[in-house]
Amino acid sequence: MENQINNVVNQFEQDLKEVKDLKQLEEIRIKFFSRNGLFAKLFDDFKKLPKEEKPKYGQLLNSVKKESQQKFDELKKKLSGQAQKYEKFIDLSLPGRKHTIGSKHILIQTIEEISDIFKGLGFSIYVGPELESDANNFEALNFPDDHPARDMQDTFFVNENFLLRTHTSPVQIRLMKEKQPPIRAIMPGKVYRNEAISAKSYCLFHQIEGLYVDTDVTFAELKGTLVYFAKMLFGENVKYRFRSSFFPFTEPSAEVDIWWQPKGKEGRWLEILGCGMVDPNVLENVGIDSEKYTGYAFGMGVERMAMLKYGINDIRVFFDNDFRFLSQF
Ligand code: PHE
Repeated sequence: MENQINNVVNQFEQDLKEVKDLKQLEEIRIKFFSRNGLFAKLFDDFKKLPKEEKPKYGQLLNSVKKESQQKFDELKKKLSGQAQKYEKFIDLSLPGRKHTIGSKHILIQTIEEISDIFKGLGFSIYVGPELESDANNFEALNFPDDHPARDMQDTFFVNENFLLRTHTSPVQIRLMKEKQPPIRAIMPGKVYRNEAISAKSYCLFHQIEGLYVDTDVTFAELKGTLVYFAKMLFGENVKYRFRSSFFPFTEPSAEVDIWWQPKGKEGRWLEILGCGMVDPNVLENVGIDSEKYTGYAFGMGVERMAMLKYGINDIRVFFDNDFRFLSQF
């Protein structure tokens, strides 16, 4: 009899250890404590014992059953508490939690929009590195050493010969060194300038460079292309002007302004890009025959375009990563 009792108790303890939820606990209750359960069976067997053994086993049986029942009750209490907590946790009447989905940064969207316009005109896309040699960023673009035009672009030098590119024009050089004309590509990317940070200028911004080199490329084509571009980006009625300018790597050179008319404020001309005919010196520097080929180039600031298009008046917001700004686009 003692063995039987011990067996049941051991089995009970073993089973109880494995219980993970109330459903499993209920199975244990049926197995051990129900009318046909293992404890009831022990009592049946107990009844069949000879009289003189009854007091001894009666006590033992009662006390182990009581103990087991207590352990069972404790676990039941614990598991129901957990279940209640869990029920509280999934309150189905609460509004769902919203997961915000990321989107492309407005600058990337603007680069894509501008790229699409030029892709439609047969331009391909080409990119170069942000860490550039002085030779590509200045020298090959006809900025001789000590040329005052170098001061137009405050440069972050890495060492004597390398720098963070101040414009995307060195990508023109890379492309022309790699490939003979015809060349027709745009070159988007980040550029860096060591300027005081303000609402108007930041140490980092984006440019899109354009280059077309072939036989008989003319300024008229440059003009037609840029006017088409301005209309596509700012609308058919955009007011524009070409103003003569200077860049060491183009001759003649021009800047394009568009008329900017904010609501309720005075309008004004705003520069959107620089352009010109590729200087024959630049073509010679990269080994392209300047007697045979001519080319045009242009370069624009992406932030400037986005600011005009969306009425943003502080360049720094592009780089703050403030969700309230970013999620508007
Ligand atoms: N690289 C010039 C700048 O950053 C822009 C430019 C590009 C002008 C190509 C003419 C031709 O100011």
